[in-house]
Amino acid sequence: MESRQQRLIITPLVLLLLASLFFAAAGAHDDATPGLHPVILLPGYSCSQLDARLTDDYEPPTPACGVRKQGRGWFRLWENYTALQVDPALLPCFHDQLRLGYDRAAGDYRNAPGVETHVVSFGTTRSFRFDDPALKNGCMQRLAEALEGVGYKEGSNLFGAPYDFRYAPAAPGVAARSFAGFRASLKRLVERASETNGDKPVILVSHSFGAFYATQFIDRSPLPWRTRYLKHFVMLCAGGSGSPGIMQVLASTMGSSTPTRLAMFGDRSFESTLSTFPSPEVYGDTHLVVTRAKNYTAENIPEFLAAVGFSDEEVERYRRRAMPLTLSFKAPIVPMTSINGVGVPTVDKIVYWDGNFTEKPQVVNGDGDGAINLKTVQALEKLVGDDPDQRYFKSVLVPNTTHSGMISDDSALRIVVGEILEANLATSG
Ligand SMILES: *[C@@H]1O[C@H](CO)[C@@H](O)[C@H](O)[C@H]1NC(C)=O
Ligand SMILES: *[C@@H]1O[C@H](CO)[C@@H](O)[C@H](O)[C@H]1NC(C)=O
Ligand SMILES: *[C@@H]1O[C@H](CO)[C@@H](O)[C@H](O)[C@H]1NC(C)=O
Ligand SMILES: *[C@@H]1O[C@H](CO)[C@@H](O)[C@H](O)[C@H]1NC(C)=O
Repeated sequence: MESRQQRLIITPLVLLLLASLFFAAAGAHDDATPGLHPVILLPGYSCSQLDARLTDDYEPPTPACGVRKQGRGWFRLWENYTALQVDPALLPCFHDQLRLGYDRAAGDYRNAPGVETHVVSFGTTRSFRFDDPALKNGCMQRLAEALEGVGYKEGSNLFGAPYDFRYAPAAPGVAARSFAGFRASLKRLVERASETNGDKPVILVSHSFGAFYATQFIDRSPLPWRTRYLKHFVMLCAGGSGSPGIMQVLASTMGSSTPTRLAMFGDRSFESTLSTFPSPEVYGDTHLVVTRAKNYTAENIPEFLAAVGFSDEEVERYRRRAMPLTLSFKAPIVPMTSINGVGVPTVDKIVYWDGNFTEKPQVVNGDGDGAINLKTVQALEKLVGDDPDQRYFKSVLVPNTTHSGMISDDSALRIVVGEILEANLATSG
């Protein structure tokens, strides 16, 4: 069992080895280097751009939000950095057009009435190229460029799978139209990428929240299909469950009224907002949120949601759609490399001693990458160790590397690209 599971702490020697791999592969090519397995990138939360158009059914919250665009075709809804910079008066419009509703009859989340959306440039990494400096480094643009530096070529053997991050995968058997559409598109993309690359199976690479989409996609693909089409899964900055930091984020949005650009990242109407909670399997009875009157463990997420202002109906949706996936999480059965940053203070516990969640909490930090704590990474390693079906798993911990640094710092990118090249060579089985 130990032999098929490896854990690698990056040391100077390993760095040197990876660097030589990196430079050996980096010739000056205009064409895609033959022999490489195609790579498909799944970006993190908020890292896919969305276009929208408004129909006559759209009821703008203020006249300025609708009139100008109704019937005018597609425009950039996320992230329209230029408009948000130039005209803060547009903030409420973007906020209103981004929000989701819940359609009781369909039993599923939906766009606001009169708002049609689609992700920009599915199949390519163009959607990851943002003007906004915050998203430029936090998303996968620099990783795509680093891969191009070692012989990958956009559209030939390098592809992107953006997704509508407002939605989320839901428990099997529950309606989730957005995720179902994404699965069908990604399946076609994987097949096409393989078939146009000499039938080589594909390497999927996810960052952060993209792991949720990737693992659910892999889990729901039949094993023979996976064997034929998936070479390897490289998962960056995600462990075996969500991290406690999300609870602080949710508490901080309690009772907020005027939309800020920041609030749009995790609007309470988004399905995905309820999708990355810590799992009881990982955190057991650890107190994650501490107050004088009550302590919340990962078992108490429903009570916590109620305490920070979610309605009974929303809590019930969490139980039905999101919680089963958190509880049943396993590493997907596919050869896999998990890469995580450590050495950065990361929220382990949040203290609202007076039970006032709108106050600034006292935060107890542990180890991690600033967003994903080490505990959930170790839980993933253990899950895999206990799973006799997992044929190949390697965990890499990169010191002093933040959540976004993993895909923007040169030193971390060298390691990530090195691991992707190694996955090219690794024989599965
Ligand atoms: C961003 O929004 C502004 C204002 O609504 C609009 O004029 C512009 O076309 C949008 N940008 C893109 C790229 O669609
Ligand atoms: C919650 O836990 C803290 C220590 O983490 C403890 O001091 C406090 O009494 C606990 N509160 C309750 C209601 O159990
Ligand atoms: C909670 O804290 C906020 C911010 O410090 C304060 O405005 C509010 O009055 C407090 N609420 C209660 C019930 O103490
Ligand atoms: C991490 O950063 C700290 C502070 O900058 C430094 O002292 C330490 O040597 C670094 N560790 C590694 C492994 O790079």
